[in-house]
Amino acid sequence: MKNIIVGVLTLSVIALMVMTAMRGPAFQGGEAATVIEDMGSRTAASTQTSKPVAKDDRAIEEDKLKALRDKAGNVGGFKVSKDYKSKCASCHGMNGEGIIGPRLIGLKGEVVYQQLLDYKAGRKENMIMKGLLMNLDQEQLKMFADEIGEFEAKAAAVQ
Ligand code: HEC
Repeated sequence: MKNIIVGVLTLSVIALMVMTAMRGPAFQGGEAATVIEDMGSRTAASTQTSKPVAKDDRAIEEDKLKALRDKAGNVGGFKVSKDYKSKCASCHGMNGEGIIGPRLIGLKGEVVYQQLLDYKAGRKENMIMKGLLMNLDQEQLKMFADEIGEFEAKAAAVQ
């Protein structure tokens, strides 16, 4: 007899739990809660109507930023030397696609080498490039030139 009472009690408790769980929102305020929630979102919406443009602008900015990041990091997406990355990529792009410095992809190694020599010697005048190359010897210039000369083939290989 005791067992039966305990069993019935347990069952009814479980049944109650299932019922409340199924009703869901009733537990958190039922209909009234939905109305309040609605009002909340409406007031939130009305306070936001004053600057929907700013929001759009931000979204556009974010898109632009993402595009820039993609451009800086993924064009071609091939690996470059540590030296190129640290000394040249900030201006010429991770893969030589060009940022504030001109695009380097597609230049032949010999051409790049000649230009680097010219910048270093001051035959081609550019303070930025000259300053950068001042402490690099011809062998290092040749290495950069050879690497840049291979950019086009490398970019083609990953696409
Ligand atoms: C601070 C920015 C900056 C960095 C860093 C930089 N460059 Fe430049 N580079 C420039 C600018 C600006 C020009 C364009 C100069 C001109 O008008 O002659 C240029 C031009 C060049 C050119 C000539 C391209 C052409 O088509 O005329 C080559 C080649 C080059 N850089 C290679 C390098 C290499 C290699 C490195 C790394 C050792 C490097 N640059 C680092 C800014 C930079």
